[in-house]
Amino acid sequence: MLQNKEIILGVTGGIAAYKAVELLREMIKGGANVHVVMTQNAQQFVSSLTFQTLSGNPVLCEMFRLFTGSKIGHVAMADIADLMVIAPATANTLGKIANGIADDLLSTMVMAMKVPVLLAPSMNVNMWESSFVQNNIQKLKAHGYQFIGPAEGDLACGSMGSGRLADIAEIIEKIEDIFTKKDLQGQHVLVTAGPTLEPIDAVRYLTNRSTGKMGFALAKIARRRGAEVTLITGPNYLSLPRRDIPQIVVQSAREMRDVILEHYQDCNIVIMAAAVADFRPQNTLQEKIKKKSDTYLLGLEKNPDILKELGENKGHHLLVGFAAETSELMENAEAKLRKKNLDLIVANDVTQPGAGFGADTNIVKILDARGRARKFPLLSKDEVANLVLDQVVKLVKKREKDQPWPHNW
Ligand code: PMT
Repeated sequence: MLQNKEIILGVTGGIAAYKAVELLREMIKGGANVHVVMTQNAQQFVSSLTFQTLSGNPVLCEMFRLFTGSKIGHVAMADIADLMVIAPATANTLGKIANGIADDLLSTMVMAMKVPVLLAPSMNVNMWESSFVQNNIQKLKAHGYQFIGPAEGDLACGSMGSGRLADIAEIIEKIEDIFTKKDLQGQHVLVTAGPTLEPIDAVRYLTNRSTGKMGFALAKIARRRGAEVTLITGPNYLSLPRRDIPQIVVQSAREMRDVILEHYQDCNIVIMAAAVADFRPQNTLQEKIKKKSDTYLLGLEKNPDILKELGENKGHHLLVGFAAETSELMENAEAKLRKKNLDLIVANDVTQPGAGFGADTNIVKILDARGRARKFPLLSKDEVANLVLDQVVKLVKKREKDQPWPHNW
């Protein structure tokens, strides 16, 4: 998404200025061309040389020492930019922008911007809570400025509360969000992720290698594309860079089933990336099993097939399953698509390096109910999520075309 985007990164004089270095690196990693603009105060915290070296572009600090060309610098920069991000944005800079003061390069440039401006405030909690700052925030929001953060936590001044610069991952996600077309607006997507845990005794359980990464990527990208998202996940160690996705953590397959059924009528799209255990121990012992003998026979019984049950009560829902296979990928995936009455199935051959469980990447084939298969190379799980959602959008549009409002599907 950030590929070939021209982004102006404004850095103002707060202790969090050092974090702007990491933000710059992440933007560049995403493919953006970044031009850094620093206030005089920002240069007290981080050297302009650091930003210049990492961005590969001259760092702009002074109003009257800009380009040598015929165009006036701040206006020229405003013309080429796709987005301006100010991180950290101090109380002073927010106040200047809110009140139309343009007395240095950064504040002048903001005033000339015709593209979105994202502000990431960072300051002491008392400053953040002051009525001056809060009034300025309201004013800026009313003028269409976008905000990310501040976050809560330990502040550099030793106090606790709101005022920390938002996490870099959250700032990047907000930037991606700004650039993303909202083609899932009006849809409610239920995504499942992660493994289930099937208890054996008080301390042991059966599970699998799913980390939740694939499902989390789907939830994040669906939300980014405008959908309302509910994420139902097995235990995991991941954090989502978005706070606007309700997340329900479950343990066992039966618990996952119950929670999905509770939310089934509220959504119109279900994407099941969770690796639900097919079997659970017949008996769960309340005590820890003692090793009295050399062998121990564990009886297993079938878990409910959640997606099959959803397919049997499909109604207006669009259903997407995943198939994690170690052999006969397409045959097995197609059989699951038919048996569970799905619209799409995403087949991943989990024996391939970089595919399936745990990796940040995946290699998938997407099969639809008409038997058409699309094959993709090794891609990040975010990219795979986008491809799956592209197919979902196509199906949603087709349904809307086939059955114009009011929808009976
Ligand atoms: O979480 P990661 O580490 O990122 O790994 C991603 C993944 C490999 C888990 C993911 O890409 C994936 O393939 N998920 C589905 C794994 C799986 O359980 O496949 P399956 O072939 O056993 O199940 C087929 C479909 O039925 C799945 O959508 C599954 O969620 C669903 N199912 C399975 C069993 C069951 N009892 N109830 C179900 O609803």
